[in-house]
Amino acid sequence: MNATNGLSITWLGHATVLYRSPSGKTVLVDPWMEGNPASPPDAKKLAAVDLMLITHGHSDHFNDALTIAKRLHPEIVCNFEISLYLGTKGVTQKLHGINTGGSITVDGIRVTMVPAFHSSSIQDGDEVLPAGDPCGFVIRFEDGQTVYHAGDTGFFGDMKWIGELYRPSVAVLPIGDLYTMGPREAAVAAKLIGAKRVIPIHHSTFPGLTGTPDAFRKELADQREIEVVELKPGETAGAELARR
Ligand code: NI
Ligand code: MN
Repeated sequence: MNATNGLSITWLGHATVLYRSPSGKTVLVDPWMEGNPASPPDAKKLAAVDLMLITHGHSDHFNDALTIAKRLHPEIVCNFEISLYLGTKGVTQKLHGINTGGSITVDGIRVTMVPAFHSSSIQDGDEVLPAGDPCGFVIRFEDGQTVYHAGDTGFFGDMKWIGELYRPSVAVLPIGDLYTMGPREAAVAAKLIGAKRVIPIHHSTFPGLTGTPDAFRKELADQREIEVVELKPGETAGAELARR
């Protein structure tokens, strides 16, 4: 499945995505395994995470962040407020609280925090804490291949400029509707971004998420340059992501 020395991308259900870089580093975005109905059983047994990225504080993106931080000690890139929160919980090492527009290079992987139109909060017991602005990430791997991981977001026209600036070859977009873009919005987003491969996420987890990969593909039917790479939870895209 992973017979490539290039980038591979595994969907761990809902919004949780595991990237394996060309040099073999693992980058985990938005960890939610415990209680995630779409999480494959193996996801809970991750043995190594080199870098963890967090787009916002909602539990479907953040639920397992503390557990992973304490068990696997990855470097962490998140917004400043979430880094403060993790600090209060005893995570202090390798914690990079950055902010929108900024970039940081960790182990040869360049991470840029880009805007997302959504909200962000952390539910901590019976308290709901503000958790800064939500974000997406542009991830440039060691060989230059670049992914735009949009995070939870509504459609916005500046996705065009994210595409122009960073030239991602892959875009990972939410399509489930209700909390994020649905298929129609995500299809227009894909056209603006200009990535040749698009991986839909944040769909099918709950009945309320009505956007489907089929509907997304239909919306993109007239776009021969854009390929929808549909994964099931637990599946990996590898060779099909090779640049052309
Ligand atoms: Ni959210
Ligand atoms: Mn979400």
